[in-house]
Amino acid sequence: MGEYFQDRSTIFEHERVLKESYTPNELPEREQQLKRLGLEVLSPVLNDAPPHNAFLYGKPGQGKTAAARFLLEKLETEVEGRGVQLTTLFQTCKGHHSSYQVACDLVEKLSGENPNGHPKRKVFDELYVALQEIGGIVVVVLDEVDNIGKKDMLLYELPRARDNGHIEDMDVSVIGISNDMTFYDELDPRAKDSLCEVEIHFPPYDANQLRSILERRSEKAFVDGVVTDEAIALCAALAAQDLGSARQAIRYLYKAGEFAAIDDDESVTEDHVREAEEYVERTNVAQSIRDLTIQDQLTLVSLTSLAANGDTAAPTPEVYSRYMTITERVETNAIAMRRVRSHLHELDMIGIVSGTKRSGGSRGGPKYYWELSTDLETTIDVLAEDNRFDEITDVIARSQR
Ligand SMILES: Nc1ncnc2c1ncn2[C@@H]1O[C@H](COP(=O)(O)OP(=O)(O)O)[C@@H](O)[C@H]1O
Ligand SMILES: [Mg+2]
Repeated sequence: MGEYFQDRSTIFEHERVLKESYTPNELPEREQQLKRLGLEVLSPVLNDAPPHNAFLYGKPGQGKTAAARFLLEKLETEVEGRGVQLTTLFQTCKGHHSSYQVACDLVEKLSGENPNGHPKRKVFDELYVALQEIGGIVVVVLDEVDNIGKKDMLLYELPRARDNGHIEDMDVSVIGISNDMTFYDELDPRAKDSLCEVEIHFPPYDANQLRSILERRSEKAFVDGVVTDEAIALCAALAAQDLGSARQAIRYLYKAGEFAAIDDDESVTEDHVREAEEYVERTNVAQSIRDLTIQDQLTLVSLTSLAANGDTAAPTPEVYSRYMTITERVETNAIAMRRVRSHLHELDMIGIVSGTKRSGGSRGGPKYYWELSTDLETTIDVLAEDNRFDEITDVIARSQR
């Protein structure tokens, strides 16, 4: 293969199976959810009636997308030859911030033209026209629907399109999928009413379930006998302790395989898995830090600087005082303390820092103490990539105790 490429066929038999785009052909760990989706939601279709609207929710990596894809494909096969006219539209809302963009995408899928720029009402009308042209029963899956906001008209309107006279002699049903647990609670009551006829929860996988998922996947993906049982058990255990996410567990296993290939090792071992976990988590942290706004980053730099000196957990005023020094150094405008506090809370929400409430001192009221939840070295490294923080991260790295 020369000096640039490597033959990985001693490790991987079907490497594609480890990619995100692969849809498994069985999900026994989700039998209960699949049964409910089939029996309570989709079965009317076999009888030429529209399915119920449904809402699937659970944390990321719980097989929601996979389960929906799997069962809708099965349903399409099932209705063949029954004289039922069924169309399923799978629409991801990832990267979309409003139903306007989602509606544009749906119109493009159906008509080939994207109406972006047209007024909102017109886009919706075009969507109804396009749906009317398909006719029959249309099932629209809105995946990662939490991205488009809780007060959104699409979620309210689409399931009621027929009742409201936007379409006739045909039916549209909606299956919403959400990664965000709070999305449902805060959903506009009218949207909740029309969308959530059936709700199906996908609880986090435990280590045993993750192990069986990985075993099935590795049988297809890897050369026989290359992956040790210990390596699989460790991937499952690490992912179960963290998010219980099958996506995370599969990433660990894939990366472990790649490390084994790079090292020219004959098998994938626990050491490769440990190396893989570190790599994957580091990449995740790096990505979430890069995605932050400048003020979030400055807040994080301040806390990182305190952490390097061993001064965390630190109360908000202390973080703020470090923040003031740093904004001066990098010549950026400073914002008020209460706003820095709210940036700290935001960083807490995405898991980069963690705030602990302690009861207040003499002046009463709770006080927050802040610390990093990410690895200090990794955080410094990632911040250092940004040349705005060059100088400051140098100082931080040197001051590290
Ligand atoms: N029960 C399962 N069996 C096999 N693979 C699974 C199972 N659950 C999840 N996966 C796989 O894990 C990854 C994440 O699943 P996905 O359905 O995308 O999660 P979610 O939509 O809940 O975030 C995908 O690669 C998927 O194929
Ligand atoms: Mg998904």
